[in-house]
Amino acid sequence: MRIHVGADHAGFELKEHVKARLAELGNDVTDVGTYSEESVDYPDFAAEVARAVARGDADSGILVCGTGLGMAIAANKVPGVRAVQASDLEVAVMARRHNNANVLTLPGRYMSPEVADEVVAAFLGTEYEGGRHQRRIDKISALEERGL
Ligand code: RB5
Repeated sequence: MRIHVGADHAGFELKEHVKARLAELGNDVTDVGTYSEESVDYPDFAAEVARAVARGDADSGILVCGTGLGMAIAANKVPGVRAVQASDLEVAVMARRHNNANVLTLPGRYMSPEVADEVVAAFLGTEYEGGRHQRRIDKISALEERGL
């Protein structure tokens, strides 16, 4: 899979771990940064990954900040992106099955590398169910167009 990853300073360490694991598994991984623990602003990295997913340059995106929350809020501003923060495997599975999420955000300050491996594998390995869920996704897309 083509996967874009990004993080801020609080997510840097976990992002490095996730990136290495994804590459080890044979994925085509693009790292948009950040590349150190020096303080940066998470929306900059959320925007890069979200735009790559929305353009179709990446199959999925993974973003890490302290809580995963700011990254999700920022990534969801890009039309076509459905970003979710998932702290456990079952939620990651449901985010794919029902929400067709295309960006996963992780809480770097509150998640071990082992749990991150499980959550990422569940997210990337689960198919969207479609069917009745598509009507709901279409309503989300309509909100992007006519939200105001
Ligand atoms: C950075 O201190 C922190 O606010 C950020 O990583 C993230 O948790 C925001 O949602």
